[in-house]
Amino acid sequence: MKAIMVSEFGLETPMAIEDVPAPTPGDNEVLVKIEAIGVNPLEIAIRMGDHPRSAQVKFPYICGSDLAGIIESVGENVEDFKPGDRVWGRCQGAYAEYAVLSSPLLGKLPDDYTFSEGASLAIPLLTAWNALVLKGEAKPGDTVLIQGGAGGVGHLAIQLACMLGCRVFATVSSDEKSNFCLQLGADATINYRVENVVERISELTNGEGVDIVVETAACDNLKDDLELYGLNGRIVMVGTGTGKDFPVELSIRAASKNDVRIYGVSSGNLTPHLPEAMARISSVLMSGKIRPHIGKEMRLEESNESHELVLSGKFLGKVVLLP
Ligand SMILES: NC(=O)c1ccc[n+]([C@@H]2O[C@H](COP(=O)([O-])OP(=O)(O)OC[C@H]3O[C@@H](n4cnc5c(N)ncnc54)[C@H](OP(=O)(O)O)[C@@H]3O)[C@@H](O)[C@H]2O)c1
Repeated sequence: MKAIMVSEFGLETPMAIEDVPAPTPGDNEVLVKIEAIGVNPLEIAIRMGDHPRSAQVKFPYICGSDLAGIIESVGENVEDFKPGDRVWGRCQGAYAEYAVLSSPLLGKLPDDYTFSEGASLAIPLLTAWNALVLKGEAKPGDTVLIQGGAGGVGHLAIQLACMLGCRVFATVSSDEKSNFCLQLGADATINYRVENVVERISELTNGEGVDIVVETAACDNLKDDLELYGLNGRIVMVGTGTGKDFPVELSIRAASKNDVRIYGVSSGNLTPHLPEAMARISSVLMSGKIRPHIGKEMRLEESNESHELVLSGKFLGKVVLLP
């Protein structure tokens, strides 16, 4: 099968397309013929060599994790899936034509979802779910700020927060991204490049601050987040910011004044919650209330360019590769 291989750390070394043997499914595993692959900042950070998971890789490895496709064959003890099922999920090595996935971590893709939409769920939607439901404990009437509203996690977090009955604000960097977030249901957007986010949130909430911040660019924004949360607020640090990783100085007074809870999250730690979260997300998908937006579809051969595009931020929603 064709696969996109990473042979050393550093974005200056291009990934290469190679012919490698297709994997075979073991106990509780299925073999999926991949129809679409979600491009996430995670695999870019691992490839850069500065992600905690970079330490675990062995070269050469197949890049990527999120995919959607059709089950080709099933291993022993797989009961809930059969060949021909349309599925979404995550694995190690998704930039390829086939991958093996553990069956408890697979979801069935509703018939009216495209494979590109399905490949945009595993990391982005589960992370939005983790941030808003598990950590943020969002409830109807809460005010939520999504930092980076037009990105992979952000655009799904807007829809999820709306579905949960929250008042939703989102930060963006352009009018195009603002319109996109408003169409997804955000009540207001703030262009962080030209507006003062702390002042605008104060205006929008009559000085009370927001209940939850979903922070996808924590290196840039965490300091300000401590100025815009309300009493008993929750700040969920979903990400450092695509391609970023630098230390941040924080005011302990700002963190103490309103009893904030600050969470870090890692999609890897979600595994014990996955069966329940996947079941709940499956019913949300059936309701049609949450829909990934595909900003750009590219060919598997364009994997290097897809990483450049994600790093540039010049897309709406998700970038997807098609094998
Ligand atoms: N912890 C986890 O398990 C987990 C899971 C998923 C993602 N993440 C992390 O979360 C972050 C976002 O992931 P993603 O998939 O949503 O990435 P993405 O699709 O690349 O989107 C990032 C968005 O952030 C915006 N942005 C950049 N700098 C910003 C700033 N200073 N303030 C507000 N918005 C800003 C970008 O738009 P502009 O550049 O136009 O502003 C873009 O829309 C990444 O760091 C990723 O690694 C972590």
